[in-house]
Amino acid sequence: MAKYTPMIEQYLAIKAEVQDAFLFFRLGDFYEMFFEDAVNAARELEITLTGREGGAEERIPMCGIPYHSADNYIARLIEKGYKVAICEQVEDPSQAKGVVRREIVRIVTPGTVMDARSLGETSNNYMVSVTEEQEGCFGFAACDISTGELFVTRLEGTITLVTDEMNVYHPSELLGSAELLQKLRDNNPAGWASSVVMTPRSASTIHTAVSLEDYFAEAELAALPAEAKACVRQLMTYLQETQKRSLAHIKHIRVYEQNQYMIMDPFTRRNLELVETVRDRSKKGSLLWLLDKTVTAMGGRLLRRWIEKPLMSETAIRERLEAVERLYHQLIVRDELKQALKEVYDLERLVARIAYGNANARDLVALKASLRQVPLLKQIGEASGSGTLAKLTARIDPCQDVMAWIDTAIQDEPPVSIRDGGMIKAGYHAYLDQLREASTNGKQWIAELEKQERERTGVKSLKIGYNKVFGYYIEVTKANLPSLEEGRYERKQTLANAERFVTPELKEKEGLILEAQEKMVDLEYELFMQLREKLSAHISRLQQLAELIATMDVYQSLAAVSAANRYTKPAIGDDFELRVDEGRHPVVEAVMQDGFFIANHTRLSREDGSMMLITGPNMAGKSTYMRQVAIICLMAQIGCFVPAQSAKVPILDRIFTRIGAADDLIGGQSTFMVEMMDIQVMTEKATARSLVIIDELGRGTSTGEGMAIAQAVIEFLHDKIGCKTLVSTHFHELAHLEETLAGLRNYCMAVKESGRQVTFLRKLIPGAASTSYGIYCAQIAGLPGGIIDRSYELLHAFEARAELLQGESEAVAGIGAPPSDKPSALQEAQMPNRTELPLAADAAMPDAGAAAAEPMAMTAEPETAAPAPFAAAAVKDPQQQPEQVKESGYVQLSLFQETAAAPERTKKKSDPKLEQLAEQLKSADLMNMTPMMAMNFLFDLKKQLS
Ligand SMILES: Nc1ncnc2c1ncn2[C@@H]1O[C@H](COP(=O)(O)OP(=O)(O)OP(=O)(O)O)[C@@H](O)[C@H]1O
Ligand SMILES: [Mg+2]
Repeated sequence: MAKYTPMIEQYLAIKAEVQDAFLFFRLGDFYEMFFEDAVNAARELEITLTGREGGAEERIPMCGIPYHSADNYIARLIEKGYKVAICEQVEDPSQAKGVVRREIVRIVTPGTVMDARSLGETSNNYMVSVTEEQEGCFGFAACDISTGELFVTRLEGTITLVTDEMNVYHPSELLGSAELLQKLRDNNPAGWASSVVMTPRSASTIHTAVSLEDYFAEAELAALPAEAKACVRQLMTYLQETQKRSLAHIKHIRVYEQNQYMIMDPFTRRNLELVETVRDRSKKGSLLWLLDKTVTAMGGRLLRRWIEKPLMSETAIRERLEAVERLYHQLIVRDELKQALKEVYDLERLVARIAYGNANARDLVALKASLRQVPLLKQIGEASGSGTLAKLTARIDPCQDVMAWIDTAIQDEPPVSIRDGGMIKAGYHAYLDQLREASTNGKQWIAELEKQERERTGVKSLKIGYNKVFGYYIEVTKANLPSLEEGRYERKQTLANAERFVTPELKEKEGLILEAQEKMVDLEYELFMQLREKLSAHISRLQQLAELIATMDVYQSLAAVSAANRYTKPAIGDDFELRVDEGRHPVVEAVMQDGFFIANHTRLSREDGSMMLITGPNMAGKSTYMRQVAIICLMAQIGCFVPAQSAKVPILDRIFTRIGAADDLIGGQSTFMVEMMDIQVMTEKATARSLVIIDELGRGTSTGEGMAIAQAVIEFLHDKIGCKTLVSTHFHELAHLEETLAGLRNYCMAVKESGRQVTFLRKLIPGAASTSYGIYCAQIAGLPGGIIDRSYELLHAFEARAELLQGESEAVAGIGAPPSDKPSALQEAQMPNRTELPLAADAAMPDAGAAAAEPMAMTAEPETAAPAPFAAAAVKDPQQQPEQVKESGYVQLSLFQETAAAPERTKKKSDPKLEQLAEQLKSADLMNMTPMMAMNFLFDLKKQLS
């Protein structure tokens, strides 16, 4: 076995404590890494890998970084999901006997970052701790050590509850037993597990025993559910182990129940684009982006939390809406509030830094400036006339004592470093003032000496200077050296053109000046630490203040956005009905550059139907509409006004969204299996108070099976759950469900066809569509003409065959044309403009404003005479309609002509085989067959015939 040098032995012993982190081992002015750490760090940080002798035969790989730029490197490693243990020399090397003693002073992990560079200003950085107390009973704690927030709850049920909750916080680090972490990893539908650092904790890895009583007051612990105690202990133990310092800012435990908030699974959050977009995961384009007009960082973070956790309590929602309403109507108050908030810094993080011990004098000045605004904020809150704001401001403790302490002690523009002095104001401390005077006097004395020496020697260029190595010196150019009095000057340093000297007198004064300066710096540091300590005792007050200010900021933000976009106050109710008049999608509306967003109604009630089956062309706005309904409900539940003319919104316990596989590009997880697993969760968890949105149900598999599943799921939701449901589909055949499911209504997106042009009106109308205009959309997208022509050709062939099948089946079965007073479901599905329905054109353009609707619709003028799309659901020019119907009638006639002879033949021969075939045809469930299935069926029959 190789024998290493004592230092390397020391390194290895320390490294054994932190197997999962890079060990930054302090050697003089560098942090060095050795062995595997060095190889990995060199690769990750792109620094040079060297080596050194360590006692063994082979050189030890090594790389290092200067200690003063360590923060940058640490930030880079943390960003890549690594941990870094910082090991310092803990004794003075000159005093050390043998190897200098070294210890790990802190372990930086993704969940425990305090460095502003690695922290997003308007997002929290959570560490989550999870425990499973007994099967199906979980403790859950989320902590942001950069702000001191700690949220704790207990969860009872399946592991998906934990993943749902995890998704609220987007933690950067997760603590739990290895088994539990594995379970979470396996239950990772939204792919979040790849971006979180998982730190397994077990009895064998825990070195410190902490008691919760050391951290939290009795009252805080009393509120903690028994199931969550071990979880909080696991968290605090880890924080103690890694931070090795005071965590006085983590004082308050916010215990909540999961059912206090609306529950959403990870996909729903993604699909609704609450805090980031699906496409590129950016904030821009998300609901948060739209609603965020907060001016403080903590307001920004709080708004994010509100969006992630919509409320379930009617009273609490009403309270929020009241504040928003007051501010909505008072532009001046709102603006004053905004201006006052602009001067407020990130109090939460400032306060955390004070407690954590890394706040500098500038942080204290920022705290002072923020506190200066508080009386004004309080005044604005009181004057707003809002009951909610009055209640809030009554709880504000302005902390003006804290502000005064900082004001009397700290300079207005102190330096960044707390080690170089220059922070404390004159008059704050008598001895410091004396030292300052001594130092100032000393400097004056030196200026005086310079003058005297010039006179004594007659050398005008003589000067007195200072540097760190030689201290004060008298400098004379070489040419003037003869003017110096013999024996009076002691030579110190020779330069190219000059010589530097000292005199006993200068030496003495220098001692006094430097001593005063050193003492001054030390004393300032000490005074600063005392003040910081003193402020630490007031952390709770400051944290509460921060939260209240953040809340005011969120109110002004929601009010500002609501007013700017003409949102209205929703009526919140606890009954079933959801009614939205002229609803809009807030984000799509905000980003639309050319044209207006077309508003649509929503009515979901027990009487008028709680389920909407939406069909209609591609690009028609189905997905937008369905998301808009969900977002309006969610906005109401966070206490914001909603984009509608008026809205009555019930409190939803959950929103589920399922977006067809092809729409879901996140993390390569968009398989049909995942979709089905999600639907499984939905069938298990949805209640009558939930809102379910399924976009393109059953799309990821074969048409027949997809449609079968779609129908079965719709029936299940309708019969067994009775929740509000919006389903969009391109399976137009499903429209017949309206006849059998009392609570289901067909809707479609109106389209206007004129000539060869199709205009999407984006207007939701009752009835079902019969086409998707898929090829037309492909044409707009610019697919080659050849493909488009061929597509139409094939489509017509498919259709012709389908019609043929229908004609044959009807003929063979002897049923002929359906009775004129009761159209078949299929026909009905193809005729959305049934007489009882309003004319689609009217619904689409209430003010006959075709000119308003048309410019924003997608249109294309095909160059080649492409066959006209064949939708019957299209909103047609009334005068055109008969012609088109005739046209389609003609197509059908030609098909029937071919099959017209069939019944004749059947009758004439009366062959038993044929009768059997007729029987088969009769009993065939054509309604529930896809065209493909039907064609196969027909093919079979034909085979039997021949
Ligand atoms: N109400 C509206 N007013 C104006 N523009 C709209 C409206 N709804 C949707 N749009 C625009 O139409 C585009 C397509 O809408 P959407 O994706 O909802 O269509 P879709 O019916 O779901 O299509 P597909 O069947 O292909 O999924 C949107 O990106 C948006 O720009
Ligand atoms: Mg869509």
